[in-house]
Amino acid sequence: MARGAEGRITRGTTGTNRLRRVDRWVARLPALRRTPHPLVVDLGFGGSAATPLELHRRLAAVNPRVEVVGVEIDPGRVRIASASAVPGVSFRVGGFEVPTERRPTIIRAFNVLRQYDEHEVPDAWRRMTSRLTEDGTLVEGTCDEIGRVCSWVALGPAGPRTLTISLRLSGLELPSIVAERLPKALIHRNVPGERVHELMLALDRAWRTNAPLGVYSPAQRWIATARTLAAAGWPVRDGVARWRLGELTLDWDAVAPARL
Ligand SMILES: C[S@@+](CC[C@H](N)C(=O)[O-])C[C@H]1O[C@@H](n2cnc3c(N)ncnc32)[C@H](O)[C@@H]1O
Repeated sequence: MARGAEGRITRGTTGTNRLRRVDRWVARLPALRRTPHPLVVDLGFGGSAATPLELHRRLAAVNPRVEVVGVEIDPGRVRIASASAVPGVSFRVGGFEVPTERRPTIIRAFNVLRQYDEHEVPDAWRRMTSRLTEDGTLVEGTCDEIGRVCSWVALGPAGPRTLTISLRLSGLELPSIVAERLPKALIHRNVPGERVHELMLALDRAWRTNAPLGVYSPAQRWIATARTLAAAGWPVRDGVARWRLGELTLDWDAVAPARL
C-alpha cells in the first residue's frame, strides 16, 4: 500500500461489463457535458483495467475530452493495469484522499465500501466528496458479479442526494433482491423501523400489484411500479425514459438510515 493512501487493500474482484448500468447513469450527469475537460476517477478499480477503460469509452461518447484516472490502493494492481493505459485513461496508486492534481467532476467508487465497516462510511464519503469540483458527484455503490442487480448513492460536496436502484427486469422475481446489494450505508438497515426497509416492502408490493402489466413487458411493469410508488408519496425522480431501463432514483432523505 502506498504511504499516505487512505483505506486498505481488499479483494480485487471485477469483471468486463459489470458496471455498465452505473456507467450509463454517470454518462447523463449534466456536469460531464458542460465541463470542457472533465476528470473522472474510478476509485478501487480492482484486479484489472476493465472498468476504467469501459467508463472512458462510454463517457467519451458524451464528452470526447473526458479523462479517466483509475485509482487503486494496491500498487500491484496499478502496475498490471498500467500496461493497458490508452490516451485519456491512466492509473495511479491512492485511496480515499483521491490524489489527483485536478479536482474530479465525478468519482465512481463501486464495490469498494462493501468490504469496509458501516461506521467507516461517513468518513470515506467526506474524504472523497471534499475532492470534488463544486458541481461534482461521488457515485458510491454495489452490484452483483455480473452487474444485473445494482444500487448506488450519489453525493455532492455537501453530502448524499439520491439513491438509485438499477435492475435487469427480465426474469426479475422481486425488486427487493437489491437488498443484498445495497450500498454499505444501507445494507444493514433493511430491518423494521428503517426507511429503506419500508422501501423494499413498498417496491415488492407495487411490483406484485402491477404483475398483469408483465404481459406487455417487464419494463411496463416497472414503469407502473415507479408510478405506484410516486403516487404513494415516495420522492421518485425522473420519468419513463429512465424507469424503462429498470432504474429508480429517489431522494436520499426518503431512505437515509435513522443514524449513520
Ligand atoms: C471488489 S474490487 C472492485 C473493483 C471494481 N470497482 C468493480 O466494481 O468491479 C475493490 C477494490 O477496491 C480497492 N480499494 C479498497 N479500498 C480502497 C481505497 N480506500 N482506495 C482505493 N482503492 C481501494 C481494493 O484494493 C480492490 O481492488
